Amino acid sequence: MTAVKARVVSGMRPTGRLHLGHLVGALRNWVPMQDQYDCSYFVADWHALTSEYGATDDIAGYAYSNVADWIAAGLDPGKSTIFVQSLVPEHAELHLLLSMIIPVPWLERVPTYKEQRDQLTEKDLSTYGFLGYPLLQTADIIMYNAHFVPVGEDQVPHLELSREVVRRFHAFYGEVFVEPQPLLTRFPRLPGLDNRKMSKSYGNAIDLADDVATVRAKVMSMYTDPARIRADIPGNVEGNPVFTYHDAFNPDAAEVDDLKARYRAGKVGDVEVKRKLIAALELTLEPMRQRRAELLARPDALRDVIADGSRKARLVAQATMARVREAMKLSYR
Ligand code: TRP
Repeated sequence: MTAVKARVVSGMRPTGRLHLGHLVGALRNWVPMQDQYDCSYFVADWHALTSEYGATDDIAGYAYSNVADWIAAGLDPGKSTIFVQSLVPEHAELHLLLSMIIPVPWLERVPTYKEQRDQLTEKDLSTYGFLGYPLLQTADIIMYNAHFVPVGEDQVPHLELSREVVRRFHAFYGEVFVEPQPLLTRFPRLPGLDNRKMSKSYGNAIDLADDVATVRAKVMSMYTDPARIRADIPGNVEGNPVFTYHDAFNPDAAEVDDLKARYRAGKVGDVEVKRKLIAALELTLEPMRQRRAELLARPDALRDVIADGSRKARLVAQATMARVREAMKLSYR
């Protein structure tokens, strides 16, 4: 007997190269879920447009390179459906229909909305599309009747909105959808090399595609404990990004414990701690580089993965939309 697996959907915006933060915050959860759930993972290219509408040249390129990174990190197109949002235009139809029933204040009170609109001042985010971001996200999720959505803490209000929208839809038209729940990522947010928030715009990330020389140089430049001006001064491990990275990437827990103990005692230099971190990172990054290179050497195969996955997703989306139109009394036959 094969039990029906619960469904998982998650997406990522193709706005840049992926870095270690994506690995820790998303991919390391996405990969093991493939065995337990029926998973769909997609490139949210329309979501990228909500902020990048003025500079769309790189979006499709990032979509391909991001998917190459996903597969290099262990996503298996034989297990998961990997697709591109805009290749499943039913997402736009569902978004439009949901836009008829969602009160605008529900969108205006999403915490990310005013915050980002006011902070990202170099872009005009007072657009209709940006306001509707979490509603499009709702469409992405409920289209596949997903039970769980692996996301970071910041996305929890979006999932809450999704559930409220589903309940409102049901109140008008009857039961069609599943109310999705977030599945929070376990590891706390990875800080940037300079201990600020990791961000493409700060240039403080290690990209998954960085070569070994770049990784070395970046780790060697990492912020540690600023009060520790000599190796024989006891140092702080807590809040020290070098140790946060060790915790996230070094599989040798005994080595990490030893380094921490010696650091606290003023018995190890930053250079040794960093050299060991480079070695640990390379255990993860080197096999990924090889798999990525293989994928990028056969661009047609990568395109096929996306085309096949999108076709598969579209069949599910079309079936959902048939039920939605039926429920809304919009079937013409
Ligand atoms: N908002 C998500 C993020 O920034 C990306 C996203 C778009 C998403 N649609 C989604 C995530 C659907 C999960 C499910 O991380």
